[in-house]
Order: sequence, then C-alpha cells, then structure tokens
Amino acid sequence: MQRIFSGIQPTGIPTLGNYLGAVRNWVKLQDDHECIYCAVDLHAITQPHDPKTLAQATREMAAALIAAGIDPQRSILFHQSAVHAHVRLAWILECVARIGWLNRMTQFKDKAGKDRENVSAGLYTYPVLMAADILVYHATRVPVGDDQRQHLELANDIAQKFNFDFCGGEPFFPVIEPLILGPAARVMSLRDGSKKMSKSDPSDQSRINLTDDPDTIALKIRRAKTDPEPLPTEPAGLESRPEARNLVGIYAAMEDTDYATVLRTHGGRGFGDFKRALADLLIAKLSPIAGEMRRLLDDTATIDAILRDGAQRASALAEPIVQEAEKLVGFLRV
Ligand code: AMP
Ligand code: TRP
Repeated sequence: MQRIFSGIQPTGIPTLGNYLGAVRNWVKLQDDHECIYCAVDLHAITQPHDPKTLAQATREMAAALIAAGIDPQRSILFHQSAVHAHVRLAWILECVARIGWLNRMTQFKDKAGKDRENVSAGLYTYPVLMAADILVYHATRVPVGDDQRQHLELANDIAQKFNFDFCGGEPFFPVIEPLILGPAARVMSLRDGSKKMSKSDPSDQSRINLTDDPDTIALKIRRAKTDPEPLPTEPAGLESRPEARNLVGIYAAMEDTDYATVLRTHGGRGFGDFKRALADLLIAKLSPIAGEMRRLLDDTATIDAILRDGAQRASALAEPIVQEAEKLVGFLRV
C-alpha cells in the first residue's frame, strides 16, 4: 500500500478550492492508501499571523477535515508543530537545496510581491519545509491542487540531491508522485477568473467557505462574474472564457463527472438557470459538512485528543527516518 502525505495551512476556513482541489481527494484516497494528513501550522507563520487565533484555527482546520470525511482512525491527522521530526529534516534539506532553485519558485514571487526584501526568510524556505513534511515519512504520493506542482518538483530535486550527496545515489528518499486530480484542481475566484480562489483574498465574495450558509452560497453564486454569452455545448467553447470554465469545472467536480457531461445538460442556455442548479448542488453537498463541523467544534477536548493521538502515530513513523538522515549527514552520536 502506498503512503500518502498532504497538508493544509490553518489560516482560515477552508474554501471550495481547498475542498475540490485537495480535501475531497484526500477522503477518497483513504480507501486504498495509508494516509497522513497535516494542519501545517509551521507554514502558517511564514506570513504575518495573529498568535491569539492560531491554535483555534488549527482546531477548526482539524474539525473541517473530519467533517469533510477524514477518518482519524484509518488515517493519521495531526498538526505539524507537534512532530519535531519535520523541522529537524527541514534544516538538513535547507542545506541541500540550492538558492538558485528557491529563486525560481513562482508562489514565493506571488506571495512576496513587490516587498521581497521585507518578507520572512521562512516564506522563502517554505517549500523546503514542505519537502521535509513529505520525505520524513517516505511518502510516495501527494494529493494537492495544481498550484503546488512546482513545489513537488522541487521536493524531488532535493530528495535526489540528498540521495546523491549522502547515499551514493541509493534511493534513501523515494520519488514523490503528485496527485493533481479532477476537473477542479484549480478553482478560480468568483470575482476574477484569472485569480485563484483563496482563504486569504480580502473579498469574501470571491470564495465559498465550507461554513457558508445556504443563502450566502446562493448569493455568491448568483453574483459570480460571468460573460454575456450562453454556455457552450462542448468543452472547446470554454476556451478564453475563464469564469464560465470555472463554474462548469466546479459543477463537474461536485457531480463527479466531466465538463462534456455537464455541458450536454446545461449547454446552450443562459447562466441564470445554470447558476441556480450549481447553487442547489453546492448547498446540498456542503451544508452537511458545515453542520458536522459546528457539532465537532462544541467539543474541543475531543479534537485535541485526536490531534494528540495523530501526532504520536506520526512521530513513531518519522523518528526512525529523521534519525537515519541525521546519521547519513554524519552528526556525532554520543
Ligand atoms: P492552502 O490553503 O494553501 O494550505 O492549500 C491546501 C490545499 O488546497 C493544497 O493542496 C492546495 O493546492 C489546494 N488549493 C488551495 N487553493 C486551491 C484552489 N483555488 N483550487 C484548487 N486547489 C486549491
Ligand atoms: N504548501 C501547501 C499549500 O499551501 C501546504 C503543504 C505544506 C503541503 N506541506 C505540505 C502540501 C506537504 C502537500 C504536502 O497548499
């Protein structure tokens, strides 16, 4: 059975983008993989954050993942700062990764914007910590949204260089396979079809949050930006229509089908009918998750116990691997 690792930053309520690009796939993969899922709070402090809300945001992320279908018995669910093996391996890998490689990371450029000299060093080395997250479990498959593709290529480059430098080319770290799945691996903002839907977008209208109530979902979809043309009858007609493409992709992912099937039913008609159908579908699928999340958050002691147990099980897997890496780089052991 292959081992899966994936992570999500506890920086707010997960969005429909997180759900369709990542979490929904994590749930399905539990059936035939050994799965390790992590609220990556170490990554969450790479950009300005409020120390008063981080702990609760981490619990909320755990609750959202359980509500969405992550089973903490079958899978390991934990928060990153509780398993110290991640930072120990991250430091070693920072000394393997080349500055030139990090300079190519487009997500760093996007997040740093014009203020490059003034962002944290942690934001710059963020993808190295991400590589450590995966490699410290020798995980081989990583389900993520499309925006993480470049980070996983970097993780493979780092792993290969480590193997070459310290293991004579033997595959101590395995090759990582990205799993970027389904018609909604890149969900776009509802207000701007050229921007990714994001938890941190200043406009709440740009996204669906997993906790939005039915009226809010219906309103956001009704107001979602579109163009004046009717929906095309075939996927080729979605080219250069990013907003239409986005809504059809969301519908297809929610129905577990593809663009062509959705357009066979809805193509040729205006957006009014389609948006009503999409809102109904989203409400039917997301409302139970929001309800379950609220129920779980009434009992934080249970969530904390789940995370504590997850951290113990994760540590048991990571500890021998990080110790072996420390031995391979040659640290004195007394
Ligand atoms: P983050 O919220 O940045 O921690 O992302 C957690 C997971 O959700 C990663 O696998 C991302 O690739 C995925 N993700 C985030 N935003 C989107 C989006 N707009 N569309 C698809 N996947 C996304
Ligand atoms: N960087 C990922 C994101 O923002 C989150 C993440 C951290 C991750 N460590 C990971 C994803 C390891 C997959 C594997 O989306």
